[in-house]
Amino acid sequence: MIVVTGATGNVGREAVRLLVDWGEQVRALTRDPATATVPPGAEAVAGDLTDPSSLAPVLAGAEALFLLSGYAPEVFAEAQKAGVRRVVLMSGGSAETGDRTNAVARYMIDTEDALRASGLAWTMVRPRMFMTNAFQWLPMINAGAVRAPWPDVPAAVVDPADIAAVAAKALVSADHEGRVYPVTGPEALRPGDRVRILGEVLGREIRYEVQPDDEARAEMLAQMPEQYVDAFFSFYSGGKLDEATVFPSVEEVTGRPPRTFADWARANAARFR
Ligand SMILES: NC(=O)c1ccc[n+]([C@@H]2O[C@H](COP(=O)([O-])OP(=O)(O)OC[C@H]3O[C@@H](n4cnc5c(N)ncnc54)[C@H](OP(=O)(O)O)[C@@H]3O)[C@@H](O)[C@H]2O)c1
Repeated sequence: MIVVTGATGNVGREAVRLLVDWGEQVRALTRDPATATVPPGAEAVAGDLTDPSSLAPVLAGAEALFLLSGYAPEVFAEAQKAGVRRVVLMSGGSAETGDRTNAVARYMIDTEDALRASGLAWTMVRPRMFMTNAFQWLPMINAGAVRAPWPDVPAAVVDPADIAAVAAKALVSADHEGRVYPVTGPEALRPGDRVRILGEVLGREIRYEVQPDDEARAEMLAQMPEQYVDAFFSFYSGGKLDEATVFPSVEEVTGRPPRTFADWARANAARFR
């Protein structure tokens, strides 16, 4: 049996779907099973990663765990107690910067370190920018112009389904234990490239407008704590995070190439209409 956290999220949902397709028994963790929609064939179970004691019944009998970053090291102690054999951790590219002064990198580095120290078998999955971040642009796309910062920063954006495919392979086999997978899409794209591709797929004129840093900062401060806003500015204005390098992990692990941003946009076109 495999426990998937973040099972209602972009990556976890796809991992659950794949594992069920492969005939695995899956527990899909959510804080609220009453309202959560998890893929058919999986069991929705209640648990809160900020309350590690809530995880004991969830983890009982599990062979493997897919885990999000940023939660207390006690999660690993609970996994040990429950007899979990391996953990596949989703962190991110910033984990390899080693920069603990950056709040986003710090929570990823700390979680990876705690997992390495736990004695559990591990695989680190370090995705770069998700293609699904483009859903943040939905209201602007409907209005015909996307205003977004950092026009010159390319990212090898990745389809969360591809991240899930890598994670799922690592969950079902010991072959990936001790491996660190940087997970990217097939090409590095600037925000303006992504807007152009969305427009082409949707068959609509969508303009890209450069959002000045001060305006982006004010908008982000309304959505997240300042230390995370500073972290993203350090990544993208300060050039501290390379998300442009393309890695072969998706093809190496899954046997097929990663999806392009155009593939993803076509598959999700209904959401943008
Ligand atoms: N977006 C990017 O470009 C990017 C790039 C690299 C790494 N990442 C990392 O990816 C992660 C987000 O993944 P995602 O996009 O797949 O998720 P998501 O769509 O943002 O959904 C968040 C998930 O986390 C679960 N969750 C939140 N708080 C929880 C808690 N206290 N206990 C248990 N579950 C909790 C939610 O479950 P319920 O609400 O059902 O409880 C939900 O399934 C973050 O750690 C982020 O740093 C993102």
